[in-house]
Amino acid sequence: MKDYLKDNLPMPVVALIKSVLNGYPSLIMSSLRESRRYNKAYAKDTAKGTKQLESRMMYFTHQIEKGLSHKDFRYGFGKRPLQYLAKTLSLYQQQVPNYSDSMPYRSALVALGEYLRRHANHEDTLIYVKSIFPVPTVDAALKMNSAEGGSFHFSEESKKNNAVLTFRELSTNRHSIREFSDRPITYDEIKPAVELAMRTPSVCNRQPTRIRVILNHDLISKALKLQGGFNGYATPPALILLTADNRVFMAPQEHNEGYTDGGLFGMSLLLALEEQGIASCPLNTMFRKGPEKATRELLNIPSYENLVMYIAVGHFPDQCVTCVSHRFRADDVVTVIDK
Ligand SMILES: Cc1cc2nc3c(=O)[nH]c(=O)nc-3n(C[C@H](O)[C@H](O)[C@H](O)COP(=O)(O)O)c2cc1C
Repeated sequence: MKDYLKDNLPMPVVALIKSVLNGYPSLIMSSLRESRRYNKAYAKDTAKGTKQLESRMMYFTHQIEKGLSHKDFRYGFGKRPLQYLAKTLSLYQQQVPNYSDSMPYRSALVALGEYLRRHANHEDTLIYVKSIFPVPTVDAALKMNSAEGGSFHFSEESKKNNAVLTFRELSTNRHSIREFSDRPITYDEIKPAVELAMRTPSVCNRQPTRIRVILNHDLISKALKLQGGFNGYATPPALILLTADNRVFMAPQEHNEGYTDGGLFGMSLLLALEEQGIASCPLNTMFRKGPEKATRELLNIPSYENLVMYIAVGHFPDQCVTCVSHRFRADDVVTVIDK
């Protein structure tokens, strides 16, 4: 509000104008600004930018990695992600001179190499893959070292000492687990991890995160059907929903803070579960309107709470197979600003 207006209008009028301007109109304007910036940037399927291509490559690689880490391996899986991956790799090769050094590219090739090897006796699938990827890409994939992508195995036994690991060891060894032991899990087993995650910092200590621990098999199945990112896996023994309670916030510019605080809480909880020797997998709550409404109704979530994420939870199976989900190096993402 302009100073000359502030100085010349009565205080109650100034307060009224400020509350109106700093209310709904301000929220709408910030949503419009955010939408504009997001719409220009995101990796839509027509996107040709290098970063967008890398993200799409990682997304499709991850689909392949998930298929490779299924306990009940489904031969010939992933035709669509493979098609998209082929198209994206080709655009990337044309655009990036040193493409073969990039993490997403290498990771994609490792996953493709594992896919080809696992299908060594499945001629139909090999013919299909070779029909969509050029020969040099297939040859390069078969030569790749598996530590940069694909699936990997470990045992439940290796998780027994998690409570005495250093932070570095715990964090390095944590992996999303999507296939759990059949053994049920109780709230009493999960609670120590939630108590530890309560140490998560939040803006002005307002602690917006709300936690629902869902143990009802039917409800979990219905919720995950709506979620859509866990298809093909058995219903996990427990599902945690993290939400952010908007009633703790005090101004329009704080409207996204619940996601930040909830995200931090989520990471603490994942590590705390891992420390307790409990397996987990974060799951998105990026809903369109219909599934969000249905989810809110199913789980009785009031409109003043934002959905932050789910976490599938259970005991580790004896033998775990999961995705490598290779990471960028710090130098790939850090910008040092020293001037
Ligand atoms: C917010 C969030 C949402 C996620 N959503 C899904 C999901 O819907 N389905 C899924 O299988 N994995 C999901 N993941 C798991 C990621 O794929 C996984 O964390 C990533 O590949 C890194 O692997 P890691 O957790 O084993 O280190 C999600 C992870 C996060 C942090």
